[in-house]
Amino acid sequence: MDYLPIISNRLTDISFAGIRKVFQRANEIEAQGKKVIHFEIGRPDFDTPSHIKEAAKVALDKGYVHYAPNNGLPALREALAMRLRIDKELNYDLEKEIMVTAGGQEALYLTFLSLLNDGDQVIIPDPSFGPFALAIQLAGGIPVKIPLEPDENFSYDLTAAKRALTRRTKAILVNSPHNPTGGCLTKEQLKEVADFAVENDLILISDEAYDKMIYEGNFVSPASFPGMQERTVICGTLSKTYAMTGWRIGYIAASETIIGAAIRLQQNVMLSLCTFAQYGAIAALTGSQECVESMVREFARRRLLVLGRLKQIPGLELNGIPQGAFYAFPRVTLPNITSAQVANYLLNHEGVAVVDGLAFGQGGNGHFRLSYAVSYDDCRIGLERIDEAMKVLRKL
Ligand SMILES: Cc1ncc(COP(=O)(O)O)c(C=O)c1O
Repeated sequence: MDYLPIISNRLTDISFAGIRKVFQRANEIEAQGKKVIHFEIGRPDFDTPSHIKEAAKVALDKGYVHYAPNNGLPALREALAMRLRIDKELNYDLEKEIMVTAGGQEALYLTFLSLLNDGDQVIIPDPSFGPFALAIQLAGGIPVKIPLEPDENFSYDLTAAKRALTRRTKAILVNSPHNPTGGCLTKEQLKEVADFAVENDLILISDEAYDKMIYEGNFVSPASFPGMQERTVICGTLSKTYAMTGWRIGYIAASETIIGAAIRLQQNVMLSLCTFAQYGAIAALTGSQECVESMVREFARRRLLVLGRLKQIPGLELNGIPQGAFYAFPRVTLPNITSAQVANYLLNHEGVAVVDGLAFGQGGNGHFRLSYAVSYDDCRIGLERIDEAMKVLRKL
């Protein structure tokens, strides 16, 4: 007799994220008493600013512990609309065009589930944040990975994107500042992607998780180009901006049609987001933004240290200068050793955790991602250890 598999086929291609495996191994090493430098983690090391926590505590004390509306508290949508207007010069209707999600990740997931039929294709960057491809697959779609051009701020190779188009191509995703490379597209480069979307009648999904973390130039949302707002889905989050990764508050801003579909899904998936966390999020968006500015200033300081030091280490090369997020993505230039072997050596011999570039797709092969969302001192110690490791590895 044939037994039905316990686990659904949908999960066949889904393994534990590469980052998690590194994190687990790093914890094992730490448990043996060695200090590990956590360059693998993509989350700010800061605490959530106190006025945000205070607002959530007050909400709890007031008894705001029940379900919230499926699309989020009206005051939170109003605060999101206000920030989109001030920060991105975008006007969204808070009743119909904005919804609150469980972080940027659920925003992506709801977006793909709302847009895709089985076999629909979505162009995504290679390398990229792992959940892009997985969320597309889980929604029945096919991720089509297009290489990025390191010398062009890790912008798309649009000629390759053009060749990859089929009649099932439904959308193209842009993520600037970019995880894992730290690349930031210029306004002109974003406009080229937007024009590509228009010419080929594609929806443009803009992952704006790192919109505040830009060290040279200013953030531009592709939705702000004339005629693009209707065609663009913004997936955003408070996670990185306000050091709120554990609060799980993100959002989608898009046309009424898309938001309408995503809310119907949300009714059946999360029902609603944590109510008192939403009160904290209102305080984050409407309060002074000095807390964000000071975190970004500290990231900028670490970035200079990391870039300057990486450039001095033979066997590593920075193609393109990371201008945003909190990542560097050096390439390993030693002839007989892979980036995965370097990453393993760094962790096991030097206690430096980084993520091999392959975890972000074939396009990441030969690189590793280093997140400088750790203290300045840890950045310094970690880079010294990488330098020592590379001295050994160069002799192999
Ligand atoms: C590019 C990108 N998008 C979305 C997310 C998800 O963020 P959140 O923690 O808000 O779900 C991340 C998190 O690392 C990310 O790097």
